[in-house]
Amino acid sequence: MFSADHINFGFGHNASLLKFFILDNIYPLYKIVGDIMTNSVLKAIRDRRSVRRFETASIEEEKIQAILEAGRWAPSWLNRQPWRFLIITDQNLKQRISESVPVIFIMGLKEAPICIAVCVEPKEDPYHFIEDGAAATQNMALAAQSLGLGSCWIGVFNLKDEKDSAEKKMKEILNIPKTYRLISILPIGVPKYVEEKKRKELSQLIYHNNFQKTT
Ligand SMILES: Cc1cc2nc3c(=O)[nH]c(=O)nc-3n(C[C@H](O)[C@H](O)[C@H](O)COP(=O)(O)O)c2cc1C
Repeated sequence: MFSADHINFGFGHNASLLKFFILDNIYPLYKIVGDIMTNSVLKAIRDRRSVRRFETASIEEEKIQAILEAGRWAPSWLNRQPWRFLIITDQNLKQRISESVPVIFIMGLKEAPICIAVCVEPKEDPYHFIEDGAAATQNMALAAQSLGLGSCWIGVFNLKDEKDSAEKKMKEILNIPKTYRLISILPIGVPKYVEEKKRKELSQLIYHNNFQKTT
């Protein structure tokens, strides 16, 4: 481990001045940036990408348990924990689900050795059941990333005026009780291919104290 004591400048008398300048100004910066770069939570957040193609390799049971644990420890309104995690491994079911999703994601759903459907019971949290389910989904996506696995959040949305919504179709296929809402489906597996993605600059996203930008 790097420490300030290991710095040997070897510049004679001026060395101590230089040493203090570096210790006061440069080393703290190095320390902060270095720590951030190696912080495993921040690394998982930054490195996670939606994975849409998977190797056929199965996932160790302990990793699946760890991912589910991450979902269980998500925050929820009044700690109501309205979520249920439905683990899907049946190939026929995955095929049927993929046909009911209104986006092109058929390969990924079928290839992933396991999909986790995040369901919530709105009666347990009538106000924030969507956010609760979303927090559990993201926790599991990050856990998968930290374990060297990939995932892709599949939103289960209903198009406006759609008669047979994707959610309704999926709930029927998976036998999810009527009162539950299906928040997301998370296919998880060993990534075959990871797409690069960009983000908006922080400067485009941040306001200070007042939402009206003055500069
Ligand atoms: C609520 C939500 C719904 C999403 N639905 C889908 C989806 O139906 N199909 C899909 O391929 N990706 C879906 N995604 C993944 C996004 O496309 C992806 O997160 C975004 O393009 C940024 O890419 P990244 O996750 O690789 O950084 C969804 C993500 C979120 C948060």
